[in-house]
Amino acid sequence: MTQDQLKALVGQAALQEVQPGTIIGVGTGSTVNHFIDALATMPRRVAGAVSSSAATTARLRAHGIAVLEAGEVEQLAVYIDGADEIDGRGCMIKGGGAALTREKIVANLALRFVCIADVSKRVDVLGRFPLPVEVIAMAAAQVARRFEAIGGRAVLRDGVLTDNGHPLLDVHGLTIADPLALEMEINQWPGMVSVGLFARHRAQSCLLGTLGGVIRQDF
Ligand code: 5RP
Repeated sequence: MTQDQLKALVGQAALQEVQPGTIIGVGTGSTVNHFIDALATMPRRVAGAVSSSAATTARLRAHGIAVLEAGEVEQLAVYIDGADEIDGRGCMIKGGGAALTREKIVANLALRFVCIADVSKRVDVLGRFPLPVEVIAMAAAQVARRFEAIGGRAVLRDGVLTDNGHPLLDVHGLTIADPLALEMEINQWPGMVSVGLFARHRAQSCLLGTLGGVIRQDF
């Protein structure tokens, strides 16, 4: 099976997390795209979705699924999204698709975060995947220096602005032993919009696509 087939497998399996008639949160990325396509095949559909990016909104709408603004909803039963890395406690690196800030906002509305990922995303320690960071442009250089001071090498993601109009840094070379402490520290830095560390908003469950099928892990 290819990596994309494993993504499709977990995208389909994630339907079991969804109650028909409810409003759900939907993440961003190629794994989530499979989930959205599967969602459109449910005989009794969801009432709507809060989306984490322009790309996800377009795909949901193309399938005739109603998209609500985050401000219209107080709570979501579930948020379903992929990850660039996930560890054994459900902490994640996200933002490879540049949607980290809105992903965190939508995840924050949800009672449960269900991560869907192929097995290559499962790691013991976060950090091999460069950590995405959305910053206010005028702070990019000083944020990069802060990362240097803790052993990271921040690289501007060339030619990319987020849906919020901000640049992204990808931080290489970090070994993230304590994701929650690092997320809280980085959040204090002036000019930060958000960091793609999801420890405070870690996953409660993960559906992992493997050659032997979908493995469910609850944290
Ligand atoms: C987007 C994300 C994605 O969840 C992450 O990049 C994984 O993407 P994919 O499902 O395409 O492997 O955080 O900002």
